[in-house]
Amino acid sequence: EISRLPLVHVKGVPLIKYFAEALGPLQNFTAWPDDVLISTYPKSGTTWMSEILDMIYQGGQLEKCGRAPIYARVPFLEFKCPGVPSGLETLEETPAPRLLKTHLPLSLLPQSLLDQKVKVIYIARNAKDVAVSYYNFYNMAKLHPDPGTWDCFLENFMDGKVSYGSWYQHVKEWWELKHTHPVLYLFYEDMKENPKREIKKILEFLGRSLPEESVDFIVHHTSFKKMKENPMANYTTIPPSVMDHDVSPFMRKGTTGDWKNTFTVAQNERFDAHYAKTMASYDFKFRCEL
Ligand code: PPS
Repeated sequence: EISRLPLVHVKGVPLIKYFAEALGPLQNFTAWPDDVLISTYPKSGTTWMSEILDMIYQGGQLEKCGRAPIYARVPFLEFKCPGVPSGLETLEETPAPRLLKTHLPLSLLPQSLLDQKVKVIYIARNAKDVAVSYYNFYNMAKLHPDPGTWDCFLENFMDGKVSYGSWYQHVKEWWELKHTHPVLYLFYEDMKENPKREIKKILEFLGRSLPEESVDFIVHHTSFKKMKENPMANYTTIPPSVMDHDVSPFMRKGTTGDWKNTFTVAQNERFDAHYAKTMASYDFKFRCEL
């Protein structure tokens, strides 16, 4: 049984204890120039993007994407958990060209990824939907501390006192990285609206092309419905002692605007006021603005 340990702080960023322990060895990680890094604040569409990218890399061949669970096909750099292969261990088994996943803020990112100018695909998602998704994830994924009540979790989210720290800081600093680094900055809401259009942006960014039928095939097989029933994409292969899908499935709703079913009117007003203040101080506005 994975105990719900308190978060620990690394350079001021709250992290799951095991992930914090992984950061030391991760600083020696050597990026390869043909790596592609999927970066997100948690619960913003990482798994969806991972499946899309692996399908692109496999030329749309579904059977090849069924070779292993998503976390084995796209190593999660800072991942560490007793009884499950770590991100670094998974990396050792991964041939080039590699797809990598991280949720780290820039201050904790292994320097080699920046030095090698590794292409980054960042996805941002509406903050309220992220908060609701994260609360359900905290409940089901026992590497996290107990989230407490929704009201208490929401306060912690606004204060950046949840795993990986501030959503506000994360979406902003990765946006600004665009000035100096190859970053394709995408939005979950755009992917829901028109996944084909977003996949075409990805192909262009990666300098790859696929026949139109393959793109349509990828759109179909990376839909929420398809991924929810795909054991190689839906995390049901993780032991229930680590992720309890009876508490809340990993593939929970996969929609935009679900926050309306959880936020009270008072919470929404408080969140809006805090959001406006924080984002104004960051001098930053973007697509999934509330
Ligand atoms: S994690 O644990 O941080 O890597 O989670 P992440 O994959 O970033 O985010 C999980 C949320 O993404 C939803 N999801 C999808 N939405 C639409 N389409 C597809 N294919 C898809 N796959 C995963 C997943 O359901 C989580 O959102 P919520 O709102 O909780 O349903």
